[in-house]
Amino acid sequence: MILIIDDDNIVRSSLLFMLKRAGYEAKAVTGPREAMDVVRVEAPELILMDMNFSLSTSGEEGLTLLKQVKLFRPDVPVILMTAWGSIQLAVQGMRAGAFDFITKPWNNAALLQRIETALQLSPPSAGTPAGPALKLDRGHIVGSSKGLTAVLDTVARIAPTNASVLVTGESGTGKELIAEAIHRNSRRASQPFVKVNLGGISQSLFESEMFGHKKGAFTDAVADRTGRFELADQGTIFLDEIGDLDLSCQVKLLRVLQDQTFEVLGDSRPRKVNVRVVSATNADLRRMVGEHTFREDLFYRINLITIHLPALRERREDIPLLARHFADRQAEANGLRRTDFSADALQFLSALPYPGNIRELKNLVERTILVSNKPVLDAADFEAQYQPREAGGSPEKTGAFAGMTLNEIERQTILQTLDSYKGNLTQVAAALGISRAALYRRLEKYGISVND
Ligand SMILES: Nc1ncnc2c1ncn2[C@@H]1O[C@H](COP(=O)(O)OP(=O)(O)OP(=O)(O)O)[C@@H](O)[C@H]1O
Ligand SMILES: [Mg+2]
Repeated sequence: MILIIDDDNIVRSSLLFMLKRAGYEAKAVTGPREAMDVVRVEAPELILMDMNFSLSTSGEEGLTLLKQVKLFRPDVPVILMTAWGSIQLAVQGMRAGAFDFITKPWNNAALLQRIETALQLSPPSAGTPAGPALKLDRGHIVGSSKGLTAVLDTVARIAPTNASVLVTGESGTGKELIAEAIHRNSRRASQPFVKVNLGGISQSLFESEMFGHKKGAFTDAVADRTGRFELADQGTIFLDEIGDLDLSCQVKLLRVLQDQTFEVLGDSRPRKVNVRVVSATNADLRRMVGEHTFREDLFYRINLITIHLPALRERREDIPLLARHFADRQAEANGLRRTDFSADALQFLSALPYPGNIRELKNLVERTILVSNKPVLDAADFEAQYQPREAGGSPEKTGAFAGMTLNEIERQTILQTLDSYKGNLTQVAAALGISRAALYRRLEKYGISVND
């Protein structure tokens, strides 16, 4: 049974109608006292709760009720309803243990989807036998360490739901691979998987990229363009490097994620989409929330579930398997014989620090195979190719700036740095000691396009 708590008659009756039509048993009460009576005796499976009771404008009453409910039934998922203007209240509620929140006026389809997700993810109540272990299509994910196995178990459990997932971990730990695995193992597998690198989209192009535009919507809009959200409809959108999004774009993103509705630039008709959101970052979003550089409401919205990928140095037992895997794949791709590793080679590989994680191991294996061109590789072969990363890793400076204007020097420096960091704008901005926004302004000013 789903319990609705709201002091508004119309809200109660329309929610009851919607839930019953969707096949749920539901019950509605008007306030905290009646709510606690039901919570005590009837054990609802899910609670849909208004935060703004008319008695208190602060929302204090709603928060208190939530805390009581959680004390009494910690496992029952609670979905909060707040007005868009009082989203801060929803955030406080999430901290107090709510499962999810939705803003009024709500969108029925989006709300039903969140209810379904909450029910799927809530632990089975005592007495219900646990379902059969889910089978996972691993794709090319290699490894048998505890850390990776735990990650894959979580993927198997949450992939079939519509829950938003945040994949965290250092650079090169396989976040993108995991995001793809979530999609491949979901009910959306036959629908599109659309990857967006938020680190590579400038603030000025964000809306046009994500939501699309009509021809003539702005000066450079020479033709209609379909946005990423529309391309991902019915499927999954992968928001990579979400920590790179600046605050103004964060608000715009939050809006779509709340309502699954957006507007194409130059066309004011709202469009509906059904998109599952998987995000990834190597930034510490919690810290960014504390520093007010990442919105807390967006953080909760993208982060119903967190999957953290351990660094490679925390799962060294995977190293021999991974090395084998990369060697075999390279041999396959080039039609060559497979390369073997001596025992001391595997020992050497297993002991490296890997600040670049699996990507670093992959590059090292591939480079060593190419350069050494031997059937069996020794520790010495790897040692010769190993390039320990220096702290800071700033690119070398040339002294050849004589005769150039300041602008030319700046342009040149940016181009070189782009080259050194293979176009990774976060790293380029960091190396140049400027913000990403400042970097974008300069890229625009000098007409540098990052795709080339
Ligand atoms: N468990 C694994 N098995 C096989 N290959 C892997 C595994 N994990 C990562 N890789 C490979 O390592 C490389 C880096 O992985 P991926 O791009 O997913 O990392 P990432 O965490 O998204 O990195 P970044 O933060 O730099 O974007 C890819 O080539 C990927 O295929
Ligand atoms: Mg990645």
